[in-house]
Parts: sequence; C-alpha cells; structure tokens
Amino acid sequence: MKPFLSNVAIVGASGLVGSTLLELLEKRNFPIKHLRCFASSNSQGKTCTFKNKMIPIEVLSTDAFANIDLAFFCTEATISKAFVPAALNQGAKVIDCSSYYRLDPNIPLIVPEITLDFTHQLVASPNCIATIISLILAPLNRAFGIKRVIATTYQAASGGGRPAMSHLIEETRAQLLNQPFTNPYYPFQYAFNVFLHNSTFYQDGYVEEEKKIIEETKKILRHPTLLITATSVRVPVLRCHSVSLNIECNSPPIDARAVLICAPGVKVVDPPQFPMPIDAEGKEEVFCGRIRTDISQKNTLEIWVVGDQLLKGAALNAVQIAECWIQNFT
Ligand SMILES: NC(=O)c1ccc[n+]([C@@H]2O[C@H](COP(=O)([O-])OP(=O)(O)OC[C@H]3O[C@@H](n4cnc5c(N)ncnc54)[C@H](OP(=O)(O)O)[C@@H]3O)[C@@H](O)[C@H]2O)c1
Repeated sequence: MKPFLSNVAIVGASGLVGSTLLELLEKRNFPIKHLRCFASSNSQGKTCTFKNKMIPIEVLSTDAFANIDLAFFCTEATISKAFVPAALNQGAKVIDCSSYYRLDPNIPLIVPEITLDFTHQLVASPNCIATIISLILAPLNRAFGIKRVIATTYQAASGGGRPAMSHLIEETRAQLLNQPFTNPYYPFQYAFNVFLHNSTFYQDGYVEEEKKIIEETKKILRHPTLLITATSVRVPVLRCHSVSLNIECNSPPIDARAVLICAPGVKVVDPPQFPMPIDAEGKEEVFCGRIRTDISQKNTLEIWVVGDQLLKGAALNAVQIAECWIQNFT
C-alpha cells in the first residue's frame, strides 16, 4: 500500500451515501491508516462506527484536510463547491459524489468499468441513475453503436437522501394509521403516489435530474452526438432505482443478451424472472431483464434495468475508483 492513500476523510459521513461508503470501506478492507469523518453542525457529538471503533463526526471546516491523502465528498454540490478546493490545496486526492464538477470538461467523470483516469487529483462520480444506465449502454454501444436512447426512470426515495426516505416512511405510516403527516420533505404526497422528479424546472420543460442523465451519460460514454432523452419519476420505493431503456442502434443488435452477459458489473435476469428493487437492494451488480426487440422500430432494443443507487450509483462507484487508484500506484 502506498502511504498517499492511508489517511482518508469522508465528508457527509452521516448521510446515506457517506454511511454506505463507510460500510463498503470496512467490508472491502480498504487500506486506511487514519479515518476522519465530517458532516454539518447537526451531527456534532455523533459518531460513526468503523471496524468496531467509534469515530467522532467532526464539523467540516476549510482546514479539515491537513495530512488527508484521499477525501470522499458525499455532500450536496454547494458543499463540494465550497470545500473541495481546500482539500485539493492541502494535497488530498478527491472523489466527489455531488453534481458540482461532473460536467466540468477538465474533470473526469468516472465509472471504472467504462473509463478510468489516473491523471487528475479530482474526479467526479456520476449521477446515480446515469451510472446505472451507462453500465448497460457502454457494452451495447461498443457492440452495435447506439444512435438514440429514451430513458424513463422510476427513482427510489433514498436517491433524495435521508430526509426524503424519512418522508416516505413517516407519511406511509401516517396514512395507514389515518393520522396527519406534518413534516413533509417533498411538496407532494409521496405515500401511495408517484410524482415527476422535483428537481429544478428548466425553460424547455425538462427538470435538472433529466438533464443530468442526458449530459452525464454522453460524457461517461464519450459519445457527444448520442441522441438521448429522459423522463424521471419518483416512486414509493425506499431503495434501488429502475429504468426502462429504449435503445436504437446503428446496426442490428443481434444477441444483445450475450453482450450484456459479458458486461462487467451487469447481471442478466432471464424470463419469466425480471429485476425488481427488492432483489437488487444491497447488491453490487446492475440487473437487466426483459431484453427484447422493439416491434415498432428497426435496430431497437427494450430493456428493463434495476440497480442499487446507493451502491453502484454512488458509494460503490466511488470506492471502486479509489481501489483503481491504489492498484495503479502500487
Ligand atoms: N442518495 C443517492 O442515491 C445518491 C446517489 C448518487 C449521488 N448522490 C449525491 O451524494 C451526495 C450526498 O447525498 P445523500 O443522499 O447521502 O444525502 P444525505 O443523506 O442528505 O446526506 C447529506 C450529508 O451532507 C452533510 N452536510 C450537509 N450540510 C453540510 C455542511 N454544511 N457541511 C458538511 N456536511 C454537510 C450532512 O450532514 P448532517 O447529517 O450533519 O446534516 C450529511 O452527512 C449528494 O450530492 C447527492 O446528490 C446521492
């Protein structure tokens, strides 16, 4: 192990991505000499557990990164904007799970199964559902060339962080007990309902999440001319995002199943089974099924995909990037 990766910081350690990342670092025996956990003042006095040790959660500050070799940022874009420069200035390598740097042309956007880049001190880990989609599209693009994609997503509550998950749980409980629900995180009823992704609306009618899927997928695949559109929906599922993909290829996608079976990080589920969020929860692979030819258009596939967005869509992807860095430098 090289010493430059031994002192590790997790920013946002109390959140869903940060705590999942902490579990993965322990489970995968990631080489760590000293671990520091940071969050907001809300978590002051709280601790994280790592390898049976209590790690205090510290309040994030700009001088937090002295002697830190690797910092995972698992916070909102505004926090990355404010604190990643400090981490870089203090010499840390940074893997940012927020959206802040993802579309910066100078910052690599990495899914290790698809692209790797060891030349930058800072890399971005993509949007959760863009990662899941890209794992399916990359091998198909290599095999057949992809011209156009229509992605319709069914996104779980945990994609919106801990407060979103609490909204779904507490509102469902209140509805079933016929009690009032007074602490909504979303401006819509979430229990027993679906609603369009509530990120910022753009003038062209798309929401921010849909734009992230479109632009990040093109960047991950290094396919700037890809025609891709998306509709993002929140569904009352706690964990794991699903997506229906309609994929128009340049050449006949003969035996797409065989291509996907060989794809790293992908597991094919054959009929009569099909992937479901409850089966994908806690699993590292992205599951795809119902692979079929679109009867309405030539050279076009229909595929149903489900993945644990807290794992491959966020924390696992970040840890895999760090593991690749270690392998490259040892
Ligand atoms: N959830 C997903 O499926 C997913 C997938 C891919 C990427 N992401 C991205 O990952 C990031 C984290 O998402 P999440 O779902 O883990 O959110 P979350 O559960 O709401 O956690 C947010 C974390 O940020 C911390 N934080 C908030 N304000 C802070 C501040 N001023 N200084 C330091 N820390 C602060 C929180 O600390 P306190 O607890 O102390 O407030 C908490 O640890 C976001 O950028 C999100 O877009 C999420």
